[in-house]
Amino acid sequence: MAIREKVLNMLENTVEAISGEEIAQSLGVSRNSVWKAVNKLKEEGYEISAVTNKGYTLVSEGDSVSEFAVKKYLSKECAEIRVIVRDEVTSTQTVLKELGDKGEAGNLVLIAHRQTAGKGRLGRSFEAPKNSGLYMSILLRPKFTAEKALFITTAAAVATAKGIKLVTGKETSIKWVNDVYYQNKKVCGILTEANLDFESGGLNYAVLGIGVNITEPPGGFPEEISKVAAALYETAPPERIRARLAAEILNSFMGYYNHLEEKAFMEEYRKRSFLTGREIVFTQGDISESGTVVDIDDSARLIVKLDSGETKAYMAGEVSIVKNFA
Ligand code: BTN
Repeated sequence: MAIREKVLNMLENTVEAISGEEIAQSLGVSRNSVWKAVNKLKEEGYEISAVTNKGYTLVSEGDSVSEFAVKKYLSKECAEIRVIVRDEVTSTQTVLKELGDKGEAGNLVLIAHRQTAGKGRLGRSFEAPKNSGLYMSILLRPKFTAEKALFITTAAAVATAKGIKLVTGKETSIKWVNDVYYQNKKVCGILTEANLDFESGGLNYAVLGIGVNITEPPGGFPEEISKVAAALYETAPPERIRARLAAEILNSFMGYYNHLEEKAFMEEYRKRSFLTGREIVFTQGDISESGTVVDIDDSARLIVKLDSGETKAYMAGEVSIVKNFA
């Protein structure tokens, strides 16, 4: 752990002011290193007051997330979770996949304040400017088959919607298969990438990535997504929201993941379905079919009554909504 993170942990754990000398002694570093670490934390948005003859106190965590702050809200379902927070990465997916390839153990969570090359589904990019959202990936080493692993994404969508409700009070819906919608616009995207073990039919590892738009990026969303994308808050969000949201999503997700075969999330997934009852166009490769969504089955397939009268169950594909909705 970097000195900066150790200093932050000490400040977060201390109610009274703590002097630079005390911090330096307890960490076995120089006072100058402590001073530099405090300044770095201030640059990152932590509000730290320094009172002469008393020392430092953490007044507010601003927009930043720390490992300590996330861990504080984790439940027993997350007993085996390890959390790393980085200021800037290319993509939390890319970093965890590299670690997965090197044999890193599962249940490792990586959160970044900013991604320079955030990844979306189908090779798209995902905007991840500094402190506008929660950008989090989890390295998993599932014991179950690749087929069952498809439910990681389904469970994650429900866990995210539940986490958002718990922390912000806001109700969201889930647009099959894995987008979370707030007031008819996308506020969260989920991407699961897997490394398959062809011999066993299982997975070497999976990396689940969750990106939640908490506030609009400075300057607004890029033109190409501005009609469909939104943020949970139009004004400044409550403090520590990202740490709490990360933890509540993890609590809910790990609860499901630890008993994935029970599919306890399916009922909630259906309840929150954004598409059920809507007229849609379903596209898979070159083929497009239109119809009305009637249900989502226990295999998380989208059940569509086509305009031709035939009913089809879709595993994967892209859906666009035909009718305007209120
Ligand atoms: C999508 O809607 O297409 C999926 C978006 C997934 C974004 C998250 S943000 C955290 C993780 N790191 C990434 O680069 N992507 C995922």
